[in-house]
Amino acid sequence: MRTCHLRTRGAISVALGLFVVAFTVTLGCEPAVTGYHVIPLPRQVTPRSGSFWVDQSTIIALSNPSDEELLYLGQYGARMIADAVGIQIPVSSEPVTGDGPNQIVLALSSDSAVSSPEQYTLIVDERSVTISAPYHRGIFYGLQTLRQFLSAESPGVIPAVEIQDRPRFPYRGMHLDVGRHFFPVSFVKKYIDLIAMYKMNTFHWHLTEDQGWRIEIKKYPRLTQIGAYRKETVFERNFDPYIGDGIPHGGFYTQDEIREVVKYAHQRYVTVIPEIEMPGHSTAALAAYPQLACTEGPIEVSTNWGVHDDIYCPREGTFTFIQDVLTEVIDLFPSQYIHIGGDEVPKDRWHDSEVAQEIIRREGLADEQELQSYFIRRIEAFLLQHGRRLIGWDEILEGGLAPEATVMSWRGLEGGIEAAHQGHDVIMTPNSHVYFDHYQGEQESEPLAIGGYSPLDKVYQFEPVPEGLTDEEARHVLGAQGNVWTEYMRTTDYVEYMVFPRMLALSEVVWSPKEARNWDSFLQRLGPHMETLDRIGVNYRVPEELRDD
Ligand code: ACM
Repeated sequence: MRTCHLRTRGAISVALGLFVVAFTVTLGCEPAVTGYHVIPLPRQVTPRSGSFWVDQSTIIALSNPSDEELLYLGQYGARMIADAVGIQIPVSSEPVTGDGPNQIVLALSSDSAVSSPEQYTLIVDERSVTISAPYHRGIFYGLQTLRQFLSAESPGVIPAVEIQDRPRFPYRGMHLDVGRHFFPVSFVKKYIDLIAMYKMNTFHWHLTEDQGWRIEIKKYPRLTQIGAYRKETVFERNFDPYIGDGIPHGGFYTQDEIREVVKYAHQRYVTVIPEIEMPGHSTAALAAYPQLACTEGPIEVSTNWGVHDDIYCPREGTFTFIQDVLTEVIDLFPSQYIHIGGDEVPKDRWHDSEVAQEIIRREGLADEQELQSYFIRRIEAFLLQHGRRLIGWDEILEGGLAPEATVMSWRGLEGGIEAAHQGHDVIMTPNSHVYFDHYQGEQESEPLAIGGYSPLDKVYQFEPVPEGLTDEEARHVLGAQGNVWTEYMRTTDYVEYMVFPRMLALSEVVWSPKEARNWDSFLQRLGPHMETLDRIGVNYRVPEELRDD
């Protein structure tokens, strides 16, 4: 019920390049503050006067109620509003009627000026809210923006505004290592929800590691029977001399659970990229199938962090195994990309292996680096035959990049720059800025982490497109991703603490126009998001700048 008289004060045009975002709505009956606190900052925000009030008579109306995906989005929007405001509103089965009052309209528009398949327009006036977009995913992002207005201090009061928005980069990713510590499906879904809330669109699921193999493979049951469990974990930093915690750890996702997660993500416009590590970081697989190694063994699922010497031996049986595994992976994950790792591969075993040396001779390779390149190229050829593309960490540049590979640049920007020079696509994930396993405050006052220092402002200042690239090369930078390696993250609470709010800073890096980024504005907008995270039960670190003491 609109019983309160609404007055607006301080309407400020927030077009590209202007950052003042505070906006006050004064209610005639009680003062309340709401605001344009959207993260990531939309491309263009133009405040209008007045407000829309979601109440019991509000409906969601669709441009075409027989469009199933639009109907799904209507229902998603209704649930979102119920969660935020506590009001259940119906989705009308009648096509939207002109300018009928008190409706939230979701409309697919045949806009000829499509700059991005993810663009949307959100218009709020006193009578209605309209989200329009050329594609369904744009409507989803319009709903995410609307959600942020709904969870403001005055739930249900949406200040009138016109927003034109689209992302800067097509690839906006978050990674999660479930190999070092296993996290349940319920948490993976929560993580995906949070990724989607902040308009990120890719979940990179790091499924295999030295310390645990986490994906059921029907043809090789020992991968999870043996490879998914370790007898204990190194205690804190006691590597040498080694002290274990004596606590067994493990778990894996069944193929049904994987399908469930992929579907859940798809419904939130998030692509899941699986990572199956090779030829290194494969100790758990070697423990399950020792014949894949270059040495006799025995090999056990690792209980210790770091880079391990035992890697896949490049004999034909190993390629058959990997191709069988990838066949099941391809069947489970519809994503264009399959990530094959490729990082941190010590070559000692290959150096000492007659099998490996024989391949080097047979193929006329210069050394073990080129043997790794040969390995990755064979896997790429297999993926391409199956209509998929290979992505790998920047070590896949060494010894020569596979012809169509995309590079994930993690040891700084250099790998990405080199790949772009060579005309390859690149995702920037440098450990200088977007490793969310790094400390985010003074080490003495933070829980144990792997090292590094990437506080919130450093993440916010990250620029994914390095200077010096030509325009053509810069177009190969598809976007960026935050990486979450979980050696020291034993609980979901701790994962959340390390990810939030750094992921929000990254969301703005990858979505908002470069020129619009402004640290003070971001901090100002962050406060209400911490309230939202509290409300939905997400743990986070309060940045120093927003602490009371
Ligand atoms: C990595 O951090 N080893 C990709």
